[in-house]
Amino acid sequence: MPDTLTIIDNRTGKKYEIPITDETIKAVDLRQIKVKDDDFGLMTYDPAFMNTASCRSKITFIDGDKGILRYRGYPIEQLAEKSNFLETAYLILYGELPTKQHYEQWVHDITFHTMLHENIKKLMDGFHYDAHPMGMLISTIGALSTFYRDGLRIHDPQARQKQVFRLIAKMPTIAAFAYRHSVGRKYVYPDNDLSYIANFMSMLWRMTEPKYQAHPALVKALDVLFILHADHEQNCSANAMRGIGSSQVDPYSAMAGAAAALYGPLHGGANEAVLRMLDEIGSKDKVGAFIQSVKAGSGRLMGFGHRVYKNYDPRAKVIKRLADEVFEVTGRNPKLEIALELERIALEDEYFVKRKLYPNVDFYSGLIYQAMGFPVEMFPVLFSIPRTVGWLAQWEEMLNDPEQKIARPRQIFLGYGQRDYVAMSKRAGS
Ligand code: CMC
Repeated sequence: MPDTLTIIDNRTGKKYEIPITDETIKAVDLRQIKVKDDDFGLMTYDPAFMNTASCRSKITFIDGDKGILRYRGYPIEQLAEKSNFLETAYLILYGELPTKQHYEQWVHDITFHTMLHENIKKLMDGFHYDAHPMGMLISTIGALSTFYRDGLRIHDPQARQKQVFRLIAKMPTIAAFAYRHSVGRKYVYPDNDLSYIANFMSMLWRMTEPKYQAHPALVKALDVLFILHADHEQNCSANAMRGIGSSQVDPYSAMAGAAAALYGPLHGGANEAVLRMLDEIGSKDKVGAFIQSVKAGSGRLMGFGHRVYKNYDPRAKVIKRLADEVFEVTGRNPKLEIALELERIALEDEYFVKRKLYPNVDFYSGLIYQAMGFPVEMFPVLFSIPRTVGWLAQWEEMLNDPEQKIARPRQIFLGYGQRDYVAMSKRAGS
């Protein structure tokens, strides 16, 4: 059987053979389907990219029906259990787990790019006292392009590599400065003796002590959370990174756009929205009524549902287990009761079952972050740090893909045809 699709255009009776590759047809192959020679040709219409592959990728695999997530072939559960964030970052970016030598060099390269230029500190100082830390993060990432002009050399692999070190290394520093700014505390500079995660915690929470001692269980928990959030193939922010990057702008500008996409409540802002929702519900006995209101259309059950997963999000499973370990150190987050009840009722309710709505990564992550002492405004910031790895890997893959060009969708134009300009005095209503 040939790997082709036969299309008969009933408008003309003409027959077309369209090749099928990787279970996909190319949208441009439809352009030959025309009624008249000067027609543009047939297009596909796919708002929100519900059924359109925008690239070929080797980075992250998701099977949404089976609840599978793999980075470069490795199951997320194995990486969460056995790897650490920087090793996983290397895997995602370069395709293989590092040798000991490569790993040590990689950790060194990241560790020695954690400092921020003093003027970036001044820039962050300029934000209003109650600025949202995610707004500060997005702006500061964009501003980095003015400090690292070699970021424009996107066709030079070595220059690209340098920006990768800088971005992965500086994100925790910017995030911690944004947090300290929002609580009115003096910034804490990076401590290169510490691991990536312990250093982040030191920059967040060190007070007068000369060396910050992070709790090992909390370091481990944040490390696992970072692994789980490192990439998720063509999600809204990865698509933004690729789309903006396709204009060949520097990675700082592209990543500011990706981070902005992540900020929205339907994407990385969802864990913040989950916590607000749990606050709004208030107590376990009100869960039933809340579910009814969601079903009646008065809002969504935040942290539930996913464009790709039509099964339990595998990251949510790992996080649920992790929550117990964190709560042993921090004490149980009282909102957990409400969350567990929400999950229990929703998983049995016909509305959610029929639509295949299961808890996603954001359902429990916020509870952990809050128990660790993060304010809700920091949640999307905490998502952005590890996702930097995914954005950069997607960007690198896009730049090296000969099939990619500047991203530029088509439209179906439904507005007016040509009409003549009307003088203001002659316009209706004037
Ligand atoms: N609560 C109640 N109903 C829902 C929900 C929800 N969380 N999610 C989807 N539905 C319903 C929706 O109303 C629709 O029903 P109907 O067919 O009767 O109109 C049906 O399920 C399909 O929804 P959709 O909006 O067409 O699905 P989508 O693939 O466009 O949306 C989603 C995916 C994640 C935006 C959506 O499920 C949602 O808004 N969830 C809540 C926000 C959230 O938790 N986001 C985090 C996503 S995971 C992390 C990340 O990507 O950053």
